Amino acid sequence: MKILVATEKPFAKAAVDGIRNIVEKAGHSLSLLEKYTDVNDFYKAVADADALIVRSDKVTKEVIDAAKQLKIVVRAGAGYDNLDLTACSAKNIVAMNTPGQNSNAVAELAIGMMIYMSRNTFKPGTGSELKGKKLGIHAYGNVGKLAADIAKGFGMEVFAYDPFVSADKIKAEGVTPLNNVDELYATCHFVSLHIPANEQTKKSIGYQLLSKMPKGGCLINTARKEVINEAELVKAMEERVDLKYCSDIAPDNASEMSEKFQNRYFATPKKMGAETAEANINAGLASANQIVKFLATGDKTFQVNK
Ligand code: 3PG
Repeated sequence: MKILVATEKPFAKAAVDGIRNIVEKAGHSLSLLEKYTDVNDFYKAVADADALIVRSDKVTKEVIDAAKQLKIVVRAGAGYDNLDLTACSAKNIVAMNTPGQNSNAVAELAIGMMIYMSRNTFKPGTGSELKGKKLGIHAYGNVGKLAADIAKGFGMEVFAYDPFVSADKIKAEGVTPLNNVDELYATCHFVSLHIPANEQTKKSIGYQLLSKMPKGGCLINTARKEVINEAELVKAMEERVDLKYCSDIAPDNASEMSEKFQNRYFATPKKMGAETAEANINAGLASANQIVKFLATGDKTFQVNK
């Protein structure tokens, strides 16, 4: 069977080598489409693929329509908002993610971004420390938990809001659970976002929450740009000259943000959180293993379009 890796932002070589090894050992062939700039190349490459591995690449209805014999698509990573699940299900294509595999890389970057912002984006001048500051984890999943663990090592006081995780579990891990999201923003100097992008969360972070943050409040977004209400972010930062925003993905209004908030805003142009060799290897190999197992036994662990 043909397994296609289609990555506009390629995996590290070690990850590709590992994927190839798993795929070929199982008697399949690997095809690579890296750094493509024309989506038509994706349509062509996927036409005869039986399985597909992607990162943030958009697997649209058009991609699914072009795929004549696709049985499974695996998003090597956590967030699967880039997969058209309805289109997959309509053609009985199993869609999966690889939860947890790249979480540590994202958690480390979130903390790194907190340091970068507290040290005035490394410009001359007196900054501040993370020790003793309050960190709010907005969604206590794999990344949120790891970010909390690291933050505790820095001596931060960690709070979390997550309606899907029990307060007892959060408490047992040395984190203070909060009952509502407003309280999280009102309490914490830093809020680190780890919510998925879906119909409920898109544009859900805006003026009302941001303007509640304590003096010097800093929002770290290593989740998705779509969860931010960008116009309201601008409004909140215009009104409050102490608020800061840092993200591992540029917002749609990136040029306005850099113009208006030079020292209070930073974003990496491409999604950077999971850009480590370790995360590439963990998520890439997990994807290949999940595909090989599915093709051999029908195992659907990690299916997201049930
Ligand atoms: C994820 O959802 O796993 C991260 O956002 C990583 O995305 P990437 O594979 O595009 O780096």
